[in-house]
Amino acid sequence: MTQILRVDRPRPDAPELRRAAEVLRRGGLVAFPTETVYGLGCNALDEAAVRRVFEAKGRPAHDPLIVHVGRGWSLERVATVEAGESVRALTGAFWPGPLTVVVPRAPALPGAVTAGLSTVAVRCPAHDVAQALLEAAGVPIAAPSANRFSYVSPTSARHVFDDLGGRIDLILDGGTTHHGIESTVVRLDGARLHVLRLGAVTVDALRDAVGGAYEIVEPPAGGARGSGSPGMETKHYSPRSPALAVRAPLVEGRAGEGLADVPGHEVVYLGYEDRRPELPGSWRFVPLGASDDLVEVARRLYENLRAWDSASTDRVLLVELTMADGLGAAIDDRITRAASGVVVATRAELSEALGDVVRPPG
Ligand code: TXA
Ligand code: MG
Repeated sequence: MTQILRVDRPRPDAPELRRAAEVLRRGGLVAFPTETVYGLGCNALDEAAVRRVFEAKGRPAHDPLIVHVGRGWSLERVATVEAGESVRALTGAFWPGPLTVVVPRAPALPGAVTAGLSTVAVRCPAHDVAQALLEAAGVPIAAPSANRFSYVSPTSARHVFDDLGGRIDLILDGGTTHHGIESTVVRLDGARLHVLRLGAVTVDALRDAVGGAYEIVEPPAGGARGSGSPGMETKHYSPRSPALAVRAPLVEGRAGEGLADVPGHEVVYLGYEDRRPELPGSWRFVPLGASDDLVEVARRLYENLRAWDSASTDRVLLVELTMADGLGAAIDDRITRAASGVVVATRAELSEALGDVVRPPG
């Protein structure tokens, strides 16, 4: 049984938060809102509870979790003494907020949290409910996104329940999340700041804050592997329906040209209301928002992917990349992974890729 408790007063002494803290201290699992996406939390210092998180998500044990800490807490409970000092410029500029720093771990932290790595990813969330939960629990909370492994991240309590209902103890419902995509993950290496995962804090914001002190190294484009973060699979954040990422503006031009119906399939094109392409009459166009309002596009991206996903495979999702910098790069990273790295750049490529979707392999 998974209980859902609506949080109206995000204070550590509110009944729902006391209940959630008790569940955490007992080794249970509590999903909670952060300003990015919902997290699936457990006591980070309780090895058995950490294993339960991996089980509930169906997440492979080699993919480490982010540990969440409260505002003003010392990093020493989860990281080495020197770690806090080394990342002070970053935490000073971005905490509480959607920046995760990878630092050398404290020996006391169970190995399961970090998948056996010598480093730990830490973040201090800005969401009131997350902060109240940390304060009520009094322990660092390990929390991946609260979805089944490789599926689209959750931005509402409803999404969490759809994925994990019956598998976890409690969901704190704090409404829909603000950023809608995950935190930016970074690691310091001497004078270099490696961006391991693009996210809600843009590279420009990092550059503005600490660009004078560090050389910022961006991840390889296009959802490629080898970014230095074990969880950055090319297929991730993916709907069940086959999905393709589309580079604009290939679909400009006459409606039918090079594009056709896909027999037995419904084609849903998720694009931008201000650059709506001409599509075959049977295709459905769904706006992700306006291309000049990427904050809103990011906020609603996962909600849209979930809404248009179909349990059966008779639907194909075409998701147009923003092709923009800043937050656009993070959005495009997620779209590319949702499409398992399949990006089409011309009408011919799109037709061919659609053909592959319809034709069973072999
Ligand atoms: O916004 C967020 O970051 C959300 C909320 C709940 O805080 N959390 C989240 O967690 O997205 P998750 O587990 O879905 O993604 C964590 C990412 C993975 O790509 C993982 O591989 C990486 O952080 N990571 C964790 N520990 C790491 C480490 N020690 N070194 C490098 N990457 C690490
Ligand atoms: Mg995740």
